[in-house]
Amino acid sequence: MNILIVDDDRTNLLIMAAIVRRMDDAEPVTMSNPLDAVEWLRGNEPDLILLDQMMPEMDGIDLLRRIRDDARLDTVPVVMITANTAVDIRVRALDEGCSDFLTKPVVVPEVQARLRNLLALRQSRALLRDRAALLAAEVERVTAALQRQGKELVSRLSRAAEYRDPETGAHIERMALYSRLIAEVAGCGGAFAWELMKAAPMHDIGKIGIPDMILLKPGRLTPEEMTVMRQHATIGHRILADSDIPLLRLASEIAVSHHEKFDGSGYPNRLSGTAIPLSGRIVAIADVFDALTSTRPYKRSWTLEEARAFMVENSGRHFDPSLLDAFLSRWDEVCRIHRENADELPEFTPEEA
Ligand SMILES: [Fe+2]
Ligand SMILES: [Fe+2]
Repeated sequence: MNILIVDDDRTNLLIMAAIVRRMDDAEPVTMSNPLDAVEWLRGNEPDLILLDQMMPEMDGIDLLRRIRDDARLDTVPVVMITANTAVDIRVRALDEGCSDFLTKPVVVPEVQARLRNLLALRQSRALLRDRAALLAAEVERVTAALQRQGKELVSRLSRAAEYRDPETGAHIERMALYSRLIAEVAGCGGAFAWELMKAAPMHDIGKIGIPDMILLKPGRLTPEEMTVMRQHATIGHRILADSDIPLLRLASEIAVSHHEKFDGSGYPNRLSGTAIPLSGRIVAIADVFDALTSTRPYKRSWTLEEARAFMVENSGRHFDPSLLDAFLSRWDEVCRIHRENADELPEFTPEEA
């Protein structure tokens, strides 16, 4: 423990240094000029500071104020030695952050006891601070690990869904990017837009529960088969619901609501308007638009303009009009996403039709 002693009286300095030296683990650093002390404190942090109150050039209170202005020395106790028993000096010193007083002539055991108390306090404070920092670092590490695990789980689930789903990975990519774009333009905030992009790829995860003969049927589905097919929304919800991972809760909301329509004619709950979760209304636009404009083995892709016209025609029927406006207001960006995330399927040629 380093104890800085500042006193203009060299005899006093020697006495105080001797007292400090007789304590265990304490080493005095003595200065007779407060300005030297200011200079020394710039590069050093003592464990305790002993100040004489009356000094030429800069008195103890001024020096104390300089010390307290330095956030680095915040927890260093300062003890003021004063011959002056005037109460107002003590009050001023306390106001400036003085920790304790000693009155001249000093009584050796009293000095040692007070210094020992303050040093013990400082030590336990430092220990607490270290422990708090350690705990904070540990919490940060564990939180980051949990977040990483959550993200990994989500991306593995999405991959599993992709294997089962005849829709291509490029479709998933594009509809996720469209979803983020809509959320951003609609002013939902960057964090929500990002989460939506990560959760949207799981919208059709419920297809895991649909029998192959229906899921992979090349032709049109019968009304009964259609009823089974539509269960993918509810199955997806059940797979993802009630998770502690916020991203999965969002994905669950998307799974159950991405086939609802704005006019209430969708499924599975026939919700309408803003009763449909925002995430579902956004993903509906992204999903349908991309389904129309992508090539599937059984159909040619629509041109972007054809799809745009279809979307506009269904504004307020299938789609939330204000979200659709947001989407179409960034048409250049929509075209860019479509162009830069092309299907890996061979291009469909009209002769094959
Ligand atoms: Fe779906
Ligand atoms: Fe889809």
